[in-house]
Amino acid sequence: RNAVDSYRPVLHYTARDTWLNDPNGLVWYQGIYHLFYQNNPFGNVWGNMSWGHATSTDLLHWTEQPVAIACDDEEDIFSGSIVVDTENTSGFGTSTSPALVAIYTSAYKDGSLHEGTQAQSLAYSTDAGMSWTKYAHNPVLGRESAHFRDPKVFLYNAPGDSYWVMVAVEAQHQQVVLYRSSDLKAWTYLSSFGPANAGGGEWECPDLFPLPVAGQEDQTKWVLIVNINPGAVAGGSGGQYFIGDFDGVTFHPDADSIAPRDEVGGVDLERCLWLDWGRDYYAGVSFSNVPNGRCIMIGWMNNWDYANSLPTTPWRSGMSLARRVTLESHGEVARLVQHPILPVPLPAPDLEVVDFELASAEVTLPLVDATAAQLIEAEIMPGTSQTIRLELLPSLHGRAPAVLSYNVATSELCLDRREGGDTSFNETFGSIEVAPVPLEDGVLRLRIVIDHCSVEVFAQNGRVVLSDLIFPVAEADRCAVLSVEGGRAIARRLAVLTLR
Ligand code: FRU
Repeated sequence: RNAVDSYRPVLHYTARDTWLNDPNGLVWYQGIYHLFYQNNPFGNVWGNMSWGHATSTDLLHWTEQPVAIACDDEEDIFSGSIVVDTENTSGFGTSTSPALVAIYTSAYKDGSLHEGTQAQSLAYSTDAGMSWTKYAHNPVLGRESAHFRDPKVFLYNAPGDSYWVMVAVEAQHQQVVLYRSSDLKAWTYLSSFGPANAGGGEWECPDLFPLPVAGQEDQTKWVLIVNINPGAVAGGSGGQYFIGDFDGVTFHPDADSIAPRDEVGGVDLERCLWLDWGRDYYAGVSFSNVPNGRCIMIGWMNNWDYANSLPTTPWRSGMSLARRVTLESHGEVARLVQHPILPVPLPAPDLEVVDFELASAEVTLPLVDATAAQLIEAEIMPGTSQTIRLELLPSLHGRAPAVLSYNVATSELCLDRREGGDTSFNETFGSIEVAPVPLEDGVLRLRIVIDHCSVEVFAQNGRVVLSDLIFPVAEADRCAVLSVEGGRAIARRLAVLTLR
């Protein structure tokens, strides 16, 4: 860790010395998680879009691999997904050695044959994802559209019938479009979904997957992920989702997934369903082929409002922690729950207090190793207090780069990054994010992962998530300072752990 690189996270993936954006082609294969991603192999701003590649066995230690699919004179390689073609439907592999098939967007360059359009193309790997060949007859699916992109493909199993389903977007129409295929090459239109809920920007990077509802194992719901830029709840880019059913042709959202519209057709963004209420979780999509049907997602920890100007070098931009995603029912409705994938087992806490009364005195959580990441776990009963405040990474001089506060009266959790960090590189960066977080049995539960330039807050056991980048200017001397205002609270548990 040197001064130039002091913002580089230790638990989050960053490319060594280049730019990245969306995670692409997330797939587990033969014991390895593959993270492909939008990458500029030649610089640290957006451009020359190609698929970079990294591999991991635990979603925490990543090895950067050579560029997997490179742009050329004809096309940029935009976002997409990968499937394991176990039955060799594409003929790219053999029945004993299946191919991995990438379905990506060809963003055609000026002067190329398909200039001005975006269409879906294939590339395949017969060496477990390490080298890739573009299909000779690309593209395989176009709509004469300049904004048709981000295909996510999965195998749909119906009784006696299974076929590939693609969800992609007509970005400027706020529409998800669905197609089916038996060989990944010939595609037939199925249906469209949208506009619905947040529609104040382009729809991008969709995903569609089934999940069992926890505690009701006979019930499965379908989750449609729709990323949007701009127009997300915290401003700029973000990810919304819908819960519903998929009959093999059409996605039918549950009525409670659809936010009401006012007289002039406006939608209250707070009534939409959000993967994350912060500024920096975008293009979140799920892994294919994970054993036991587990759902794991990764998002890009950035926001198109300021993505290209983050004050880091030589790399720019990183991924979120991988998140295990499940569905829980809340009364009548099902909602997503997200848990960060962290080192197993977790280390012993550096400090842990239980059943501790919080009044006027501050509680300090130590920063044992500033080169590591930190995990704060808090379980607080607000009691008579009005506000619970956690200053994150405070230094002796000046304001903390992030202040998390909970307003007991309004049940709002706020993350304020306006002071104490570098916000100078973009006028929209200094911001305060707000998420509704009702107490549960009178308790506020927080898990906060701090990793150099990022804060990810998982509230109420992952029912609400809020993620923001931060760029501290002063060296922190504590991990956090907790205080309460207006009364007394009880810390049922408060702990800080060093994650190396
Ligand atoms: C989302 C996105 C995608 C596109 C890619 C290009 O961040 O705009 O829609 O495929 O990035 O890099």
